[in-house]
Parts: sequence; structure tokens; C-alpha cells
Amino acid sequence: MKILIVDDNQMERLFLTTALKRLNYDIVEAANGNEALSILESQNINIIISDWMMPEMDGIELCQRIRARKNSNGYVYVIMVTSRSEEEDLMRGFEAGVDAYLQKPITIKILNVQVKVGIRIINLEQQLNYEKQKVSRFANEMETLANQRAEQLVHSDRMATLGVMAAGIAHEINNPATFINGNIQTFEKFWNIIKDRLSNVNIADQKLAFIIKEMPSLIDGIKSGAGRIQRILKGLKSYARQDSPEFIQYDIHRIIDDALLLCNNSLKYNITITKNFMKDIPSVKCDPQQIEQVLVNIFNNAADAMENISKGSLNITTTHDSRLDSNNQIIVIIEDSGLGLNKETLRNIWNPFFTTKPVGKGTGLGMSISHGIIKSHGGSITAENKEKGGARFIIRLPTYEVA
Ligand SMILES: Nc1ncnc2c1ncn2[C@@H]1O[C@H](COP(=O)(O)OP(=O)(O)O)[C@@H](O)[C@H]1O
Ligand SMILES: [Mg+2]
Repeated sequence: MKILIVDDNQMERLFLTTALKRLNYDIVEAANGNEALSILESQNINIIISDWMMPEMDGIELCQRIRARKNSNGYVYVIMVTSRSEEEDLMRGFEAGVDAYLQKPITIKILNVQVKVGIRIINLEQQLNYEKQKVSRFANEMETLANQRAEQLVHSDRMATLGVMAAGIAHEINNPATFINGNIQTFEKFWNIIKDRLSNVNIADQKLAFIIKEMPSLIDGIKSGAGRIQRILKGLKSYARQDSPEFIQYDIHRIIDDALLLCNNSLKYNITITKNFMKDIPSVKCDPQQIEQVLVNIFNNAADAMENISKGSLNITTTHDSRLDSNNQIIVIIEDSGLGLNKETLRNIWNPFFTTKPVGKGTGLGMSISHGIIKSHGGSITAENKEKGGARFIIRLPTYEVA
């Protein structure tokens, strides 16, 4: 506790200082109000014992100025020394912010008691401040949490709406897509017959010759367009699929190998695959087909991200987290040496229809479907950047518990 004594009379100051020093208090002195104010700016003063009657600035004005200060650190307890006892005067002092009075002539005993009361008030005030800070910190945390929760709710609501919409669109487009697909195959067969017949005829018509030449590429165009529509529909359907996974006991390494086989085409040219499989890994509880779909999505994305790299790498690591019963999970880590994920991608990667790929190449459904699948398995999937570039996906799945 630091006490500031303000008095224009040196003898009075000396008396108070000596008495309080003897009681082991830390003392600072000021000979007038201005000096007192500048000490308050530079030092952490807890209690002020000030004389009332002083030239230039009296104790009451000093007190008013102290109370009017902004950004003061902590409460300053003000004790006014006075020989007045008129009720009116004392009231005026209290109104100016005085906390207590010391009547002249001062006795050491009363001085000591008054200072102790001041210390008690200061301590209470500090404690209150501390609690206040704690409460406001807590309130901030709660607000952040509430915001996050609201965002999640909006997100899952949007996902649900999109799911219903996607299912509806897929259903509507499915029929016309099916007959485009079916008819173009028949059309191609018919065309081949026509072409054969025409080859026996000598064609002088330039236009007809041109049509005959162009026909195959037109048919191919329709076929690949229709195929693409079908692929998108498949994505939409599995995004919207409501059916829950059918859990069985399965070997995660087998699923990974199957998925790699499916992606062989996109991975084989420039990418070295390294498998770091844990020996005797416990089996997972999963729907193998759905998990395979997740891995295929991740592998294909990795292949896309490493498309323009002459020597890419794809590392697949598996481990078992057995720290706690509740943590009894299989971990699959997939790392590539591709472009990595920028801020925007990190924020949106799990959102349906988020894609950075050119129109016609990305549907933006792969990661959001994968997220849904892993969640319905009671697991988790996260994406991050590797320290040295490239992306890392971490999948956690529950192990199959033998009852
Ligand atoms: N391994 C990866 N490296 C870099 N970016 C990735 C990777 N995986 C996913 N992404 C980013 O996430 C986006 C969304 O992926 P996805 O949902 O599979 O949709 P799509 O592949 O159709 O774009 C991609 O467009 C890409 O920007
Ligand atoms: Mg993808």
C-alpha cells in the first residue's frame, strides 16, 4: 500500500510521515495539490491523506480532480485532515469524493484505524475489479461460443436445405438424362448403319460429306456430356442420400488399397505412393463402401492438386489412438505434395459446391459428402497444410469393439 501525504505545512507532513513509516507504510509526500496530481500520474497511489486548507488548490478541489480523472488504475481512498466539524463542511467534502475525515489534532491511534479502513476498502475494490474482469472474460468466451454455435446451426440448416434441394434436382434431371444417355447409344448404332450404306454411294454433295465427317465427334460430345451429367447426379444423390451407413467390422488397409486401385488412373503417372501402415491395426466399425468413397475423393483431389508437378508424393499413414477408451480410434493420415490449401479453401472446403476447379471439372461435392460420411460414422475429418507445403487430411474412425 502506498500512501500520499499532501500538506503545505512541512511540520504536519513530517508528523504524519514519521508516524506512518513507523507503522511500516510506504510514504510519498507532496507540498501542494498540483504536485499531488502529478505524483498520482506517475505512481500507483492507494491512499491519500490530504490537508483541507492549502493555498492555490485546497483539499476539496484536489479530491474533485482526483475523482474526475480518467483511466486511473484502481480506486484512490481519500482521507481529509481538518479542524472543521460543521456538518455543512463535512457534507461538502463527502460530495467532492472524500472517503473519511481525520480531525485535528491527529492522534496516532485514529490515524492508524483510518488507514486500515482505507486498506480494507482498497482491497475489496481490487478484488471486485478482479472478479469483474473474470466475469467479462467469461462473458466474452460465452459470446464467442454462442456465435460459433449459431454459425454451426446456420451451416447445418443450409446443408439440410441443400440436401433436400439436391435430391429434388437429381430426381428431376435423372429421367431426361437417362433417355439422352440411352438414345444416344441407339443413335450411334443407327448412324453407323447409315454411314455404311452411304459409303456405297458416291457422294458429290459437299455438305453431306462434311456432315458424315463431323458426325462421330458430335456423337462423342453428346456421350461425354451425358456421362458428365450422370456423374454429377451420382454426386448429388450421394450428397443428399439420407440412408445411414451399414456398419460392419472391416480392415481399414483393405479399404485404402481398394480406393487406390480405383484411383490408379489419376495417380499412376507422376505420383509416388508411400504407405505407412500400422501392423496389426484393430479393425474399424464402418460402411466400407462409404469410407472407400471418402478416400477416393481425397485421392482424386490430391491428384488434381499435383497435376502440374513432375514428381508428386502421396503418403498414407495409419495409426491407432488408444489413449483413452473414448479415444479408441483408427487414424488415417493422407498427405500430398500439391498446392496446399489457402485460407479461403480452409474455410469452405466442407461446404457443398465449394470448388476452385474450372467449370466442368469440379463439382465441389467431394469433401462435403466425405465430411457427412465420416460424421455419420462417429468419426472426424480435418484438413490442414503440411509444414513444407501440400495438404494433409486426417480421418478418425471408431474401432470395432468386440463385445
Ligand atoms: N489435396 C488438396 N490440395 C489442394 N486443394 C484441395 C485438396 N483437396 C481439396 N482441395 C480444395 O477443395 C476444393 C473442394 O474439393 P471437393 O469438395 O472435392 O470438390 P472438387 O474436387 O469438385 O472441387 C477443391 O476445389 C480444392 O480447391
Ligand atoms: Mg474433389
